[in-house]
Amino acid sequence: MAPGMTAGMTPVRAYARTPAGGSGTPIEHDRRRHSQYPNSLAQTSRPHMTNVPASTHEADAAQSLAVQPLAARRSNPLRGTVRLPGDKSISHRALLFGALAEGRTTIRGLLEGHDVIATADAMRALGAHVVRDANGTWSVDGVGVGALLEPIAPLDFGNSGTGVRLVLGLVAGHGITVQLDGDASLRKRPMGRVLTPLQEMGARVLDSNDDGDGDRLPLTLQGTQNPIPIEYRLPVPSAQVKSAVLLAGLNSPGVTTVIEPEATRDHTERMLTHFGATLDISRDADGARRIALTGRPRLTGQAVTVPGDPSSAAFPLVAALIVPGSAVTIEGVMVNPSRAGLITTLKEMGARIILSNKREDGGEPVADLIVEAGPLAGVEVPADRAPSMIDEYPVLAVAAAYATGTTVMRGLAELKVKESDRLAAVAAGLAANGVTVRIEGDDLIVEGGAGKVTGAVSGGGMVETHMDHRIAMAFLVMGMAAESPVTVDDGTMIATSFPDFVPLMTGLGAEIGPIEPEPGA
Ligand code: S3P
Repeated sequence: MAPGMTAGMTPVRAYARTPAGGSGTPIEHDRRRHSQYPNSLAQTSRPHMTNVPASTHEADAAQSLAVQPLAARRSNPLRGTVRLPGDKSISHRALLFGALAEGRTTIRGLLEGHDVIATADAMRALGAHVVRDANGTWSVDGVGVGALLEPIAPLDFGNSGTGVRLVLGLVAGHGITVQLDGDASLRKRPMGRVLTPLQEMGARVLDSNDDGDGDRLPLTLQGTQNPIPIEYRLPVPSAQVKSAVLLAGLNSPGVTTVIEPEATRDHTERMLTHFGATLDISRDADGARRIALTGRPRLTGQAVTVPGDPSSAAFPLVAALIVPGSAVTIEGVMVNPSRAGLITTLKEMGARIILSNKREDGGEPVADLIVEAGPLAGVEVPADRAPSMIDEYPVLAVAAAYATGTTVMRGLAELKVKESDRLAAVAAGLAANGVTVRIEGDDLIVEGGAGKVTGAVSGGGMVETHMDHRIAMAFLVMGMAAESPVTVDDGTMIATSFPDFVPLMTGLGAEIGPIEPEPGA
C-alpha cells in the first residue's frame, strides 16, 4: 500500500499523457496533482468516486505525466469566508521587475502555482537571486536593467503563456540568446504576436517550431543590447503583447510607445512606475490609450504585496451564486477596473454581490466580495468588455446556463488562442451537460434554464479540458448545482493557477473529488 493510504482507499489509476510534439529537445513535465483531497466523496455510495491519499514523494512521482479526472456534484449551500491566492499577472510581473531592479524586492502573497514558479526559475536562470523564506515571502535580488545573463539551458515555461511572452520581451532587450519552450498546450499557442514587434526592435528568431506559422515554441530568440525604440499599435487587445514590448523597451536608449485601441490590464504600467520607471500615459484623439516608456530607467527593488486574483475569485463567486442558499465572503480580491468585467456583468444579471472594505493593496484597488445565491437573468455582454474579463468567460458561460433567458457574449476571438480554444471547449462542455449553446462567428450564445435555477442544468457529462485549468474549474463549478455530477477529464492543470482550488471549494461545502478513469481509458 502506498504511504499515506489507509485500508479501503482505492488508488487512482494514472494514464499517460501524449508527450509534447515539436522539433526541439522535449522537456519532461512533472504535472503534479493536488496535495490533498477531502474525504467527502469517498464517504458517498457513488461507486466511481474514490478517495486519494495525501501526497507523498512516491505518489507524486507516480503521478508525473498522469491525468486526474475530477467530478463535482450538487452541493449543499456553500457557506464561509475564503481568501484567494495571489494574482497571477501581478505575481509574474513582481518576479520579472524584481529581477531587473537593483537591490532587493520582497514579494508577499506570491501565487505559488506552476506558471509563476516557472517564471521564478527563469529569473534565476537569467541571473537573479530568487528565494522563498519559511513564511512564504519571496525575495529577488535583481541585476539591473540591461544586465541579465545568458542562461546555460533552455527555459521551460510549462503551461504559461504570460510567462513566456513577457520573458520574450525581456530577452529581446538584452544581448543574449535564449531557447524557450513549454508544454503541449503552450507549444500550440501563437508567439508571432510578440515576435513581430520584438523583431522590429532588433531581436532575431534563430530557430522556431514550424508546426504553426513558424512562430511556435520551442524557439530561440537572440536579443539586442540596443533595442530600437518603436511606436507599436496593438493589432489584438493583449496585455501580454503590450508588456513584452515595454519590457524590451526598458533597455532601449529612446522612448518606446505602445498604443492600445482597447484598454487591457494595466499592471505592467502600474508596477513599472512603482519600481521607478517613467511612463507617460495619454489618450489619442480616437480614444486609444498611448503608453510611452522612457528607456534605461534605474529600477530599484520594492516591497510588493500581491492582492487576491479576481480570475480565481470568479470560481467561488459563480459557485456561490448558483448553488441555492449559499452565502460566501471572498476576501482581498483585486478590483482594478481593467479586471472587473465579470463583476459588472454578473451584477447586470441580477447577482447579489456587495463590494465591502474597499482599500488599496500593493498599488491595486482591493475589496471583499460578499456574495449570496439568487436568480440570474441572461444579458448581452458587449465585445468591448472582453479585455477586462477575458479569462472569466468559461465560468460566466456556466452562470449563463443557470440564468433565465439567453446570454450573448460578443467578440470572443481571443478566447480561441488561450490555454485551449476556450470558445470551442466551453461550447462542447455545455452541450455535453445538456445546455443549449451555439457559436456564431466570435460570439457565444447560451440558453439559460427557462425559469428554474435548481436543476437548470442536467449535467452528467464528461468535459474535455484540453490541458486548460480554467475549463476544468468552470465545469466543476457547474457540477455543484447540476442534477447529475459533472466530470472533467483532468484536474491536474488547476495547479497552474489555483493549487488549492479543490480544498478551498470543499471547505465551503462543495462536493468535488477525484474519480477513477474508465478501464482502458
Ligand atoms: C495576462 C493577459 C491576458 C490573460 C492572461 C494573463 C497578463 O492574456 O488572458 O491570463 O498577465 O498579461 P492576453 O494579454 O494575451 O489577452
